[in-house]
Amino acid sequence: MKNQMQPLLEKYQLGDLKLKNRVIMASMTRGRATNAELVPTPLMAEYYAQRASAGLILSEGTWINSSSIGFINVPGLYTQAQVEGWKLVTRAVHKKGGLIFSQLGHIGAASHPDHLNGELPAGPSAINPQTKSFTPNGFKDTLTPRELTVAEIKQIIQDYRQAAANAKAAGFDGIEIHAHAGMLIPQFLSLATNQRTDEYGGRIENRARLVFDILDAITEVWNSNRVGIKFNPVAISNVGIVRPDEETIPLFRYMLRKLSNYNLAYLQLEGPAEDLTGTPVAALQQNYFGHFRENYQGTLMANLGFTQESGNAILSEGIADLVSFGTAFIANPDLVERFENHQPLSDSDRDTYYTGGEKGYTDYPAANYGGSAG
Ligand SMILES: Cc1cc2nc3c(=O)[nH]c(=O)nc-3n(C[C@H](O)[C@H](O)[C@H](O)COP(=O)(O)O)c2cc1C
Repeated sequence: MKNQMQPLLEKYQLGDLKLKNRVIMASMTRGRATNAELVPTPLMAEYYAQRASAGLILSEGTWINSSSIGFINVPGLYTQAQVEGWKLVTRAVHKKGGLIFSQLGHIGAASHPDHLNGELPAGPSAINPQTKSFTPNGFKDTLTPRELTVAEIKQIIQDYRQAAANAKAAGFDGIEIHAHAGMLIPQFLSLATNQRTDEYGGRIENRARLVFDILDAITEVWNSNRVGIKFNPVAISNVGIVRPDEETIPLFRYMLRKLSNYNLAYLQLEGPAEDLTGTPVAALQQNYFGHFRENYQGTLMANLGFTQESGNAILSEGIADLVSFGTAFIANPDLVERFENHQPLSDSDRDTYYTGGEKGYTDYPAANYGGSAG
């Protein structure tokens, strides 16, 4: 396939942003904010700049406040020092001609007292999500959290707004709302972890209210065409009890209709990592992205296990507009140039995904084709 025939390498108009290609770097937690203040470091700036040939970089999941933390050495965006740290990153990416959105998240009930000065985490209801938290003392089982009060939920929404404003001050090009498996938003969407009886629990409209409250707060600060959102409606492994349930399909139908009116930058969806047969979302197994294409009016970004070939195929079929790549960007900082030059991809070392330092982070070289990345 010639370069000009690869849809992945075509430009894309994302709202008012011109993406130089459709190869998006998906958010990846890498545990390199190895300081007590969780401030992004010069090493992180180097890592992101190495990957600036992506059409758009989505930052690692970033905490919106000090009670949203659930994983060690992950940066925040709620202090001035963190804003200054992120400026190093955004400037380095922009200097290389790249674009970068900040992925803002809150881990809710899936945190652990070890992250919260001994305090219990809080979630939609006092129900243990039955997952694990990566603490300074290794992986630990989650506990039964406190139920958030409505006043605390309103504060979280304001904290999203403030973090989004901080992202603007730090020079980001936009925001991605981290509504992906394991986080606070899916805990609200799930029947298993949300048994509230107020306006944030019960029927579908109520369980989805937090999503739209957060969107409304962020779009007070950012134009909606600079705000994207990432979901995984079919996550089954490693998410404890926050699994697809019998209301997942109608809930997403409701949310997609509403999200279609927001003129968002994009909707990013991670696909099924396992066989959905026998689950309440079995109907999504066939034509997964096509199902969302039919029900969402706006830019659709597809994610999970894409290769150069399958990424080009889904774009040429018109089922998605953009494709995001996670793991492939770890060992291939020049992923776009490798696609351009039909170079083989390098494999990443899982043992160094979260270990801190440059090993397995900034030391993956660009391919040797005389390309300009790296
Ligand atoms: C090391 C690692 C860290 C990740 N951290 C995040 C994260 O912070 N936020 C997020 O939404 N997804 C995260 N993901 C998921 C990826 O963004 C992506 O959805 C997933 O890897 C599937 O895409 P892929 O098959 O191209 O890797 C992470 C994945 C990996 C491998």
